[in-house]
Amino acid sequence: MELITWDDSLSVKVKEIDEQHKKLIRLINSLHEAMIQRKTKEALGTIINELMDYTTGHFLTEETYFEKFEYGERDSHKREHTGFVNKVSAFHTDFQTGKMFLSMEIMNFLKDWLIKHIKGTDKKYGPLFNSRGLM
Ligand SMILES: [Fe+2]
Repeated sequence: MELITWDDSLSVKVKEIDEQHKKLIRLINSLHEAMIQRKTKEALGTIINELMDYTTGHFLTEETYFEKFEYGERDSHKREHTGFVNKVSAFHTDFQTGKMFLSMEIMNFLKDWLIKHIKGTDKKYGPLFNSRGLM
């Protein structure tokens, strides 16, 4: 069973962003699946790398629109992104150096952070983006 299932309650009403969120969810789900299947550290590391790269690119997409549309809440929103990136890269380092294993606790952290961020923070920019023609 997949860890996160995308449904309309996660839509920010901007197609490009929804597609990116779906891809993020797919990556978190494949990491979860790989963990359950006890894949090798290398295989898990590959997915974590992909997840980190994709997350960075996705945050950049949002932040580029924030600047373009002069979004009032961009600073606090960007701080949430930075906090998440820092946390995941710290985890990645601990994982690579063997200090920490992938666990359900970490998977739930990724899941809960993403859902809370999309529903509580990303959704707030939807109306502005729509008003600037981004649907
Ligand atoms: Fe965001």
